[in-house]
Amino acid sequence: MAPISRRNALLLGGLGASATIAGGAGLWSSLNSRASPVTGQDLAQPAALRSSGGILAATLEAAPGRLPLAGRLAGALGYNGGIPGPTLRLRAGEVLRLRLVNKLAEPTNLHLHGLHVSPQGNSDNVFVTVDPGGSFDYEYQLPAGHPPGLYWYHPHHHGRVAAQIFAGLFGAIIVEDAEPVPASAERILLVSDTSLDGAGDVAEPAEPERMAGREGAVLLVNGQANPRFAARPGDREHWRIVNCCVARYLRMRLDGQKVQLLGMDSGRLQAPSDVQEVLLAPGNRAELLVTAANGESVLRALPYDRGRLAGMAGRGMGPAPPEGGDGTADPAGSALATLLVAGGPASAVAAVPAGPAPPELGSAVVAARRQLVLGTGMGMGAGMGMMGFTINGRAFDESRTDTTAAAGTVEEWTIINRSPMDHPFHLHVWPMQLVAENGRPVEPALRDVVNVPANGWVTVRIAFRDFTGRSVYHCHILDHEDLGMMGVIEVR
Ligand code: C2O
Ligand code: CU
Ligand code: CU
Repeated sequence: MAPISRRNALLLGGLGASATIAGGAGLWSSLNSRASPVTGQDLAQPAALRSSGGILAATLEAAPGRLPLAGRLAGALGYNGGIPGPTLRLRAGEVLRLRLVNKLAEPTNLHLHGLHVSPQGNSDNVFVTVDPGGSFDYEYQLPAGHPPGLYWYHPHHHGRVAAQIFAGLFGAIIVEDAEPVPASAERILLVSDTSLDGAGDVAEPAEPERMAGREGAVLLVNGQANPRFAARPGDREHWRIVNCCVARYLRMRLDGQKVQLLGMDSGRLQAPSDVQEVLLAPGNRAELLVTAANGESVLRALPYDRGRLAGMAGRGMGPAPPEGGDGTADPAGSALATLLVAGGPASAVAAVPAGPAPPELGSAVVAARRQLVLGTGMGMGAGMGMMGFTINGRAFDESRTDTTAAAGTVEEWTIINRSPMDHPFHLHVWPMQLVAENGRPVEPALRDVVNVPANGWVTVRIAFRDFTGRSVYHCHILDHEDLGMMGVIEVR
């Protein structure tokens, strides 16, 4: 029997009874075009909610609906009726009050990814559950010295995190710079992927895809498929990019333009640095400066090999190839967005103020050294015939505390990947400073998601400052997190 291509499998999943009755190639192609994305729209920016008088108070309503997605209306989930949700903009030292209203048919909650805030009570507490029809009032106090930059929010209800983000629940958070980065334009680019069935609704992937980490057939920026935007030659734009994909790594290029990296996650560089490519693991953010030169340039996501799991019954389980029809990855990659540069020269933009000095935990006194082993395999904390996803041999249990750290100390963690697939390791609340990859020293930089390469290991240092309480670390391939690759840390 010929294997069913991934696209067809997704369509079959969504056809339902009407297809059985009508059948035929005509229906097939009309459904196919109904679900295929509309490209080339003007790039939209999510609505911004700004603090005033030291407070940002807002309501986020998570609800299903027919929402604009990929240029059509799709059956999806959104915050306040949009994908992405509104951008939350505030400053260090301010208070964020969010009422989360759950209009979904299942439990949810809220996590502020990357923010250095308390994990306790009604702050960034991932152990909170908001049942359908319920609501919860979160309140977060940002410390006075909170690093400026790009963060994001998304649900964190264990077991449904991947599905809820894949269906559209995510949004950006910006902690404003004390001295704004001078730029001709600021653009927020939230990259996500999803899969739509024949009726244009977000599709749930099959079990093997969850184990590999689902990659959607459609790549989106701010919910749009390859949107376009314009600049003038000499413009210097500030792009803030989040990888909101559940499992897809983004190896990005923008040929024909000068691209500089301003920072990743909360780790700003001292000075912008020229780059050809930027790799964002799921959850990572990059802030770029793009100096525009005449012509049309496409921001592309190039193929990235994150490995495969040795699967059940000898089948390899890996990400499905992107849509191309012939089952091979397109070496030119997928278009995320298109920049058209034309017109008269723009006026010059002032220099970027110097960033912070590099982090220096490298010389800190280390109070504890730990090893965390990321494991996948049959019988590892899994049910019959299921693949297990574990940290130090154990699947997530919210009632168990796996790691206890002393407040005010610095620890060194070596995260070891014993599987043939990359896992992006994420720690809540406390940023990690990169020390070494596979034993080789790397530039010290702050990250909240660190890629641990297949069969490799990464060493980081963490300062457990400011906050005590219980929180989590996990693989940010969110299917893996939902399947158990998460642990509990308590700082006290
Ligand atoms: Cu972006 Cu624990 O998550
Ligand atoms: Cu997080
Ligand atoms: Cu993983």
